[in-house]
Amino acid sequence: MKPFEKLLLENKAWAEEKITREPDYFKRLAEVQRPNFLWIGCSDSRVPAELIVNAEPGEIFVHRNIANQVITTDFNSLSVVQFAVAVLKVEHVIVCGHYSCGGVKAALDKQRSDLTLVNKWLMHVKDVYRFHQDEIEALSTRDAQINRLVELNIIEQVYKLAHTSIIQRAWKKEGRPVLHGWVYGLDDGLIKDLISLTPDHRLEPIYQYSDPA
Ligand code: CO
Repeated sequence: MKPFEKLLLENKAWAEEKITREPDYFKRLAEVQRPNFLWIGCSDSRVPAELIVNAEPGEIFVHRNIANQVITTDFNSLSVVQFAVAVLKVEHVIVCGHYSCGGVKAALDKQRSDLTLVNKWLMHVKDVYRFHQDEIEALSTRDAQINRLVELNIIEQVYKLAHTSIIQRAWKKEGRPVLHGWVYGLDDGLIKDLISLTPDHRLEPIYQYSDPA
């Protein structure tokens, strides 16, 4: 059996198991999507959003990219945020990164000439390093430096979310969502809470919209 054929076979078994337990399982799921959470995570195969928080289909709206970034010129992540916040009306937006992130590690290295697109994507993580260079360089091991940049990058993405008109409008008009920054440990499977911003959070004036439209 080819590796991809195993996936299709597993899918059949999974769907059968769900129907055995609850005959209307897929009918119920197909009817409406009402997740309470938007999850912005890293594409890393070891950090599957639903699995690590034991969530069922229908519970979490998910966007994943390299190093769990919210980039204000990226239509992909921002359209996901807009849909989740303005249409699905999620109560929580979670940015969940992870220690030993390959994207963050790569951002602390020289740029690879064969990865021109990835370089551009990681440029924003390099900027986070530059903002906190002294703090990161004061750490004695490479692993500690990487893991601190992982944390700082997550916190930065939470602020990037808060800087969008999408979030500011929802904060002002509907008093939601709460923004969370979490970090997942590959070695123990546990999530640590790094930061949360509630709708009453006061942003720096230069990031405020005078009237979020
Ligand atoms: Co990663």
